[in-house]
Amino acid sequence: MFFSFDGIDGSGKSTQMDLFCQWLIDDHRREVIRCREPGGTPLGEKVRDILLNQKNIQLEMETEMLLFMASRAQLVREVIRPALNKGKVVVCDRFLLASVVYQGHAGGISPQVIREVGKIATGNTHPDMTFVFHLDPAVAATRVGDATDRIESRDEEFLQKVDAGFRQEVQQGGAAMKSIDGADSIDSIQRQIQSTTEALFEKVRNH
Ligand code: ADP
Ligand code: TYD
Repeated sequence: MFFSFDGIDGSGKSTQMDLFCQWLIDDHRREVIRCREPGGTPLGEKVRDILLNQKNIQLEMETEMLLFMASRAQLVREVIRPALNKGKVVVCDRFLLASVVYQGHAGGISPQVIREVGKIATGNTHPDMTFVFHLDPAVAATRVGDATDRIESRDEEFLQKVDAGFRQEVQQGGAAMKSIDGADSIDSIQRQIQSTTEALFEKVRNH
C-alpha cells in the first residue's frame, strides 16, 4: 500500500510521518519504505540539490516542473514499484499533488497539463491515500524558521496560493485524499491518520 503526505512546508508532515511509520512497524508488523520528493534515488537527490539549493541557477517554471517530474519518474521505477510488488508499505513525503499545487495553482502552469505530464512520470502509480495538511502560511512560516530553501523562500502571495491550491484539490480529490488541519495537536492528527489507515486496511482485507 502506498501513502503520501503533502501540504504547505511547516504544516507538520515530517512529524506525523515519523509517528506513522513507527506505528506501521510496531502495531501492524509492516515493512515500511520511506522516501521523499524530490529525491529518494541517487539521480533524485542530485535533482533535489539543483531545485532547492542552487539559487544562482536560472530555472523557468516549466523547467522546474519537469525536474520534479524527472525525479518522480526515477523514484517510482527504482523504489516505489519494487517495494509495492514485494508487499511493503511505501510512505512518501510529497508526490504528484505537490507539482499540481506548487508549479500549477501557485506557479501558473495549468494543473491539467501537469496531470498529463504526471501520467508519464508516475506511469499511473498513485498513492492509495494522500494526507493533505492545511495551515495558515503565516503560522507555517513561524514553524519553519529561517532555514528556507529556494521554494520555501518564495513570497507570502505564492504560499497563499499553495495553501488555497491544496484546499481546492482536496475538495475535488475524492476518496483517496484526507484533509488534515495542521493546527490540531500532534496526537489528534496522528489518531486521524491511524483511523483512516485502519479503515483502508480493513477495506483491503474484505476484498
Ligand atoms: P513539515 O515536514 O510539514 O515541514 P514538520 O513536521 O517538520 O513540518 O514541523 C515543523 C515544525 O512544527 C517542527 O518544529 C515541529 O515540531 C512543529 N510541529 C509539528 N506538528 C505540530 C503541531 N501539530 N502543532 C504544533 N507544532 C507542530
Ligand atoms: P520538502 O522535501 O517537503 O522540503 P523540506 O525538506 O524542507 O521539508 O519539499 C521541498 C520543496 O519542494 C517544498 O517547498 C515543496 C517543493 N515541491 C514542489 O514545488 N513541487 C513538487 O513537485 C515537489 C515534490 C516539491
